[in-house]
Amino acid sequence: MMVRHFHFTMKQPLLWALSLALPFAMGCRGNPSESPPLHWQRQMFTQDKGKAQRENTFFNDGRSMRPLVEGTVTVDAPLELGPYETGKDEGGNFVAKWPSEVSVSAEFVARGQDRYNIYCAPCHDRTGSGNGVVAQRANKLGRWQPTSYFDERIMTMPVGQLFDTITNGARTMPGYAYQVPIRDRWAIVSYVRALQKSQRATLADVPESQRTGLK
Ligand code: HEC
Repeated sequence: MMVRHFHFTMKQPLLWALSLALPFAMGCRGNPSESPPLHWQRQMFTQDKGKAQRENTFFNDGRSMRPLVEGTVTVDAPLELGPYETGKDEGGNFVAKWPSEVSVSAEFVARGQDRYNIYCAPCHDRTGSGNGVVAQRANKLGRWQPTSYFDERIMTMPVGQLFDTITNGARTMPGYAYQVPIRDRWAIVSYVRALQKSQRATLADVPESQRTGLK
């Protein structure tokens, strides 16, 4: 019975063509193409949606990625706010001294370097002069320029204000409170201070035993 049926259908040219064309057409699904794929049924993955880092005409500011709603806090946000959490003293002034919770050690600065190279170097570059890859691109587009850490204003900026800059951003620079926990923010501040110090280093800062060859 099966054999007879098979024999019968394959004699029909139209059925022949169909049985070849159908798997072929289905096989095309998933091949790379510049034009949008045709779907029998528009499933959820073909719906209109905003993609990360893309432009979006739906919103007034043209951004697809939405800024956090004002007042949003992280689940582990501190309940009591002191100099360690804000970089400010009771009078609301930026602290010039390290908060008591912070003790700057070589290990702490190294942690700061590690975090700095991830979160800051893309814009401020690894030396802190402000010419990271993202900054170079922004410059090409005529957008913004990260401040050099060696500007007198930043060199003399209180540690509390550096902390606050990382936390809340400054003008065109976004804040990093949501990505970088408080302790790491202080570690980054300690590393920025180290970068600044390295720029102003003189021969007197080098141990006696290693001065030969530097003069
Ligand atoms: C997306 C790029 C970008 C990243 C990442 C970035 N910055 Fe900035 N930063 C800027 C820009 C741009 C400015 C200049 C802001 C302005 O003056 O409009 C700036 C300014 C600053 C200033 C000077 C603020 C002032 O009051 O003038 C400090 C300090 C600073 N950044 C530190 C950091 C640290 C530390 C990190 C890492 C946690 C970081 N930045 C990450 C772009 C960036």
